[in-house]
Amino acid sequence: MEPFPVASIRARFPALRRAELVYLDNASGAQLPDRVVEAVAEALVSLQVNKGGAYAPSRRVTARKEAVRARTASFLGASAPEHVAFGPNATTLVTLLARSVGDALAVGDEVVVTSLDHHANVDPWRQLAARGVVVRTWRPRPPFGVLDLDDLRALLGPRTRLVAFTAASNALGTLVPVPEVVDVVRAAGAWSFADLVHLAPHALPDVEAWGLDGAVFSPYKTFAPHLGALYLGPALRARLAPPRLSFHDPLDPIAWEPGTQSHEAILGWGAALDHLGDVADALDVPAGSERTRWRSVYAAVATHEAALTDRLLRGLDRLGADRYGLPGVDGRTATVAFNHPQRAPADVARGLADAGVAVAAGHSYAYDLMYRELGLEARGGSVRASAVHYTDASDVDALLDAFARL
Ligand SMILES: Cc1ncc(COP(=O)(O)O)c(C=O)c1O
Repeated sequence: MEPFPVASIRARFPALRRAELVYLDNASGAQLPDRVVEAVAEALVSLQVNKGGAYAPSRRVTARKEAVRARTASFLGASAPEHVAFGPNATTLVTLLARSVGDALAVGDEVVVTSLDHHANVDPWRQLAARGVVVRTWRPRPPFGVLDLDDLRALLGPRTRLVAFTAASNALGTLVPVPEVVDVVRAAGAWSFADLVHLAPHALPDVEAWGLDGAVFSPYKTFAPHLGALYLGPALRARLAPPRLSFHDPLDPIAWEPGTQSHEAILGWGAALDHLGDVADALDVPAGSERTRWRSVYAAVATHEAALTDRLLRGLDRLGADRYGLPGVDGRTATVAFNHPQRAPADVARGLADAGVAVAAGHSYAYDLMYRELGLEARGGSVRASAVHYTDASDVDALLDAFARL
């Protein structure tokens, strides 16, 4: 395989070509390659019609949307397109799902959430407490914020119905061993639901091989426009009533898409999947199924991102930054939480922005983790830098230089 072709990948991203900003806030939302922008523009110019109509553009947009659904199933490792529903974002989809799960549960049934998660996968489940569902919290262990399976086992019981957990922490970058968690949850007779939002730009999901009953992710973190996608496996689909409305779209195969979804976002996501194919071509990945080629791309991306993460971690340690999460590159994505020893994270983010470097600052919507588990409320959370496949060493060095000058 070729060395990672980061320069040619960057050349495909208009925002990166403009070189106005060093994008190290990718965990909040990724930049888009040209072909995604073109697909969105084409959808807006030529396909801004209702689906399910008899006229040509309507037939075209309906077929293209369903083709993207099928490819999304393949991306997730799901066996059939009807296991995938689109929505405006992950939070809305989890909220819809949690409401339906609540309808299927009885008073006294139990649900487990984690305090490693983004609250998109916590609060909709905690709200079930108002219906008499007992909500327990699986807490990560200090000092690195790692979820331990023994702690999960201690929370499970005969009334546990569902465990909602993240596959990767958007705040610390920590990876969670999804198949191992699913085994424990399944042994307790409960459903497992994973948040793949932070994982998907860094690792190819494999929902059915992992045994998940449900999962969610946001294509807009994976080089597509703002969009959410839900996977529901057979067990959940059999037990849950979807949010069926009287004007329910008969073309929606699993009835989890109330109303009209964004054609341009869905077709833009299809083009983001094409982009992964472009990366495969640039890597000289041999011909094969799309998913096999994506697997090779993600393997190369993991190596590239690990080198960047290592560079960033070493640089921050050299500069005396306070760091959170796992100490080294193992067991994490290319997302790093840190603080300046003297300055507040918001202040650091402003200073870095003045130097042309974009990072996040605060709680990363993982309040339980950042404030309660890591005790960072008084400090205002942390700074977060997040790299993806188009990040290069010059981005990391720009951040380190600007941090050193603060
Ligand atoms: C891990 C994780 N889960 C969920 C979300 C919420 O995603 P959305 O904006 O699609 O609702 C985010 C967004 O940052 C996230 O990082």
